[in-house]
Amino acid sequence: MWIYQKNLEYPVNIKRPDPKMAQLILSQYGGPDGELGASLRYLSQRYAMPTKEAKGLLTDIGTEELAHMEIVATIVRQLLKGSGKEQIADEYSPIYVNHGLGVYPASSTGEPFTAAALQVKGDPITDIAEDMGAEQKARSTYEYILDMADDPDVIDPIKFLREREIVHFQRFGEIMNQLNELKNKKKFY
Ligand SMILES: [Fe+2]
Repeated sequence: MWIYQKNLEYPVNIKRPDPKMAQLILSQYGGPDGELGASLRYLSQRYAMPTKEAKGLLTDIGTEELAHMEIVATIVRQLLKGSGKEQIADEYSPIYVNHGLGVYPASSTGEPFTAAALQVKGDPITDIAEDMGAEQKARSTYEYILDMADDPDVIDPIKFLREREIVHFQRFGEIMNQLNELKNKKKFY
């Protein structure tokens, strides 16, 4: 069960429309290394974890990734707000033709979200190893976005999201150590 708070985990206040950047950032909503995939991966993997701590961590981080989806969707929406027809036609047409100005879970090339981009293996070590890789992939994507961004109002929340991927990677690393210790004590697979 979740309790919903009606505010973003980190504020977004973008004033300058930029449909091109909206299209790029959409990848972190429904792309292969985006927040929807992260959330579904962790919230599904948690059931097969052997310790309370591992279950709890996946629930915590999976929940936070849902909050990150909200932040990314808000960024995309604010970047589209106020764009002229011409700007949309020039910079956003591949997404616009299918979804208008709605926020659809897809990559920046318009590929719809697919659960094929994530795995639930039922093996705790395998799943946490994937999660550590997933956090690094998300961090890299945010860094590529930062390379292309020039608006401080966009850079600020993207930096926050990038920072959180680093924290998640570290927390998964701690749980990996715990699982390895447990594995050395008794075989649970
Ligand atoms: Fe994350």
